[in-house]
Amino acid sequence: MFRSSSFAARNLAKTCSQRRFASTKTVREVLEEVVPKKQLQLKQLKTEHSQAVLGEVKVEHVVGGMRGLKSMLWEASVLDPLEGIRFHGLSIADCQNVLPAAPGGKEIIAESMLWLLLTGKIPTEAETRQLSRQLAEKGELPEYIEKLLDSLPPTLHPMTQLGMGVAALNHESKFQAAYERGIKKNEYWQYALEDSLDLLARLPALAARIYRNVYNPGQPLPKVNKDLDLVGNYANMLGFGDNHDLTEYLRLYIAIHGDHEGGNASAHTSHLVGSTLADPYLSYAAGLYALAGPLHGLANQEVLRWQMQMQKELGDNITHDSIRESLWKTLKSGQVVPGYGHGVLRNPDPRFMALQQFCDTRPSLLQDPIVQLVKKTYEVAPAVLKEHGKTKNPYPNVDAASGCVLYHYGLTQFKYYTVIFGVSRALGCLTQYVWSRALGLPIERPKSLSMDAIEKLIKE
Ligand SMILES: CC(C)(COP(=O)(O)OP(=O)(O)OC[C@H]1O[C@@H](n2cnc3c(N)ncnc32)[C@H](O)[C@@H]1OP(=O)(O)O)[C@@H](O)C(=O)NCCC(=O)NCCS
Repeated sequence: MFRSSSFAARNLAKTCSQRRFASTKTVREVLEEVVPKKQLQLKQLKTEHSQAVLGEVKVEHVVGGMRGLKSMLWEASVLDPLEGIRFHGLSIADCQNVLPAAPGGKEIIAESMLWLLLTGKIPTEAETRQLSRQLAEKGELPEYIEKLLDSLPPTLHPMTQLGMGVAALNHESKFQAAYERGIKKNEYWQYALEDSLDLLARLPALAARIYRNVYNPGQPLPKVNKDLDLVGNYANMLGFGDNHDLTEYLRLYIAIHGDHEGGNASAHTSHLVGSTLADPYLSYAAGLYALAGPLHGLANQEVLRWQMQMQKELGDNITHDSIRESLWKTLKSGQVVPGYGHGVLRNPDPRFMALQQFCDTRPSLLQDPIVQLVKKTYEVAPAVLKEHGKTKNPYPNVDAASGCVLYHYGLTQFKYYTVIFGVSRALGCLTQYVWSRALGLPIERPKSLSMDAIEKLIKE
């Protein structure tokens, strides 16, 4: 049944098949059962093992962007350098096997991934549908947010607009209001959950309004359809609701891109800001601005821009040799090859492979020149990057493949692509926000050192 057989996945699937059609709990009810167990686990870690050593801090960590330093608690997913991401022990292939899809669809949907990330459990079909409904019922934007977005210049980068919209939604924050009223610390997570679900519910309308304002001004925007899942609604509001394949692609992309452990720049930023007890809206807005950097989330827009430039330069007869030459040109000009390399991964990214698999099952995608170029580049680039000798990971990451499929289906405005990533990554960052409050994690405050202070410590 499983494409990859992990013990955790088999166990989860067994539990799931026993109750798949039975349970109709809400995500909050499931969390009420899970939170005390995790709180106990943390208490035991603190009381019994707080002095256990997990690694060393070396000068290379301090001056090298803390790469590999084990210093954050993050519950929803763990990233293995060779195997890639696992969500509560499940690989992407496991998730594709056990997480419910949308009615009429095959791909994982955001709601079932969110459920897994939040609770560590696989939702039933009924639970997934109920969560979709719950989100759709609160999916419309408040009027002041619509006015704010409509007042922004269409030339303002869509990611800047998304961050502004998310931050301004904190006007609605139940967490902030409850904090001001003076609630107890052990109640934080419940308000954090409410805000997180409210924000996730509104992200499609927010992101779709930005798309409409920037690229299709004056076009009417459909209302949220209460019978659709989150991404079904997003595709519909973007104007692609009748494109089943694109909707399915967006479902897959948004689900598998939802979390990539805690150390990446956007997750870490939102975690840090959340640790100050800034509400989930402000915390995630901060994460979005980290996502907007070209070495992180903006890479998906950069990949397509770069591949299309390559296509233009190489003309009709593109060969492995001509791609090799083009790669060297990029590297010799001092630029990075976008979509390749990773801070943690040391193998082709399984998310890249999942998107390639999606293409492999659709003849129209396989015939598309830009999809073909992405695939051909993958056949050449790792060897070139190895020869170049700098990057520790010469293999593609998810962004190498994500944009070309969107382009094929007519979502051609690549400055918008990171916004879709931003809709997706909310799943993981907001999950952790809830857990950080449930576990009562403290404000983050690592120790910084000057170079003189480092030298003094070395001498001592
Ligand atoms: C993702 C990324 C930022 C990771 O950075 P990192 O952890 O510092 O990576 P490494 O340790 O392998 O970097 C070592 C060197 O290789 C270079 N390198 C890494 N990836 C490279 C790439 N794709 N092309 C060319 N050079 C690359 C780095 O710039 C660095 O050079 P320097 O020593 O001159 O500063 C980096 O691989 C990159 O810039 N990739 C392209 C952008 C991208 O796809 N981002 C999306 C990531 S999901």
